[in-house]
Amino acid sequence: MSDSLNAMRRRSVLEPQWFVPALFVVALLPAVIGVAGTASDLLADTRFFGSNPIKAVEHYFGQWTLRFILATLCITPTRQLLGWNWLAKQRRTLGLFAFGYLMLHWLAYALLDVQLDWHDLTIDLAKRPYIMIGMAALLLMVPLAVTSTKGMIRRLGGQRWNRLHQLIYVISVLGVIHFFMAVKKDIGQPALFAAGLAVLFAFRVQRWRARRAA
Ligand code: HEM
Repeated sequence: MSDSLNAMRRRSVLEPQWFVPALFVVALLPAVIGVAGTASDLLADTRFFGSNPIKAVEHYFGQWTLRFILATLCITPTRQLLGWNWLAKQRRTLGLFAFGYLMLHWLAYALLDVQLDWHDLTIDLAKRPYIMIGMAALLLMVPLAVTSTKGMIRRLGGQRWNRLHQLIYVISVLGVIHFFMAVKKDIGQPALFAAGLAVLFAFRVQRWRARRAA
């Protein structure tokens, strides 16, 4: 291994001090923009989100949910490839942000789109398979969010906690299928997310095979 790579690895053992504040700023910014933009569109007709702000913000938060799910799945490969072990604890943080964006996506749908009409909500659920798939992903994400505290990790034990949190793979696949079904024709963007997910899965399968062969 070259000296420069060794030096880089030594430097990367510790978490840079700016990392956590920067992560929170970057992760919160889309939420602030989304909520403020929607409020100004609905209250002052500013058209920040265009002529149909409710649909647009629903899509906006849906896409941010998937970005954060993929970012969560990027942590392990990044940590392993660069030796940044300090990154491991940010996996839970990113996962919680994914859950937060999912709740904003769901609120945009339930509160603004369907306006908490439980009759419409149940009809949508029964008649639109992509809503059913989205709801399945949401329900699977709840136990992950609930068990993301240090206390819950201790209570469950590392192995059980890890096994439970493997549900993120199922959730990510359901999220991408939901995206494909929601857009119907223009599949460019969901295909991009699917390709990203395929690369992340391929990395894990390759590591798993290497471990078995060793
Ligand atoms: C992990 C779970 C979920 C993910 C990752 C996700 C993501 C997405 C994405 C990326 C879109 C399309 C955005 C675009 O077209 O640019 C979308 C659309 C949508 N999602 Fe979700 N979603 C999830 C769960 C849900 C849930 C629980 C609901 C409601 C019960 C829901 C309702 C909708 C609706 C109504 C649309 C818009 C469809 C239309 O264009 O009419 N989603 N979602």
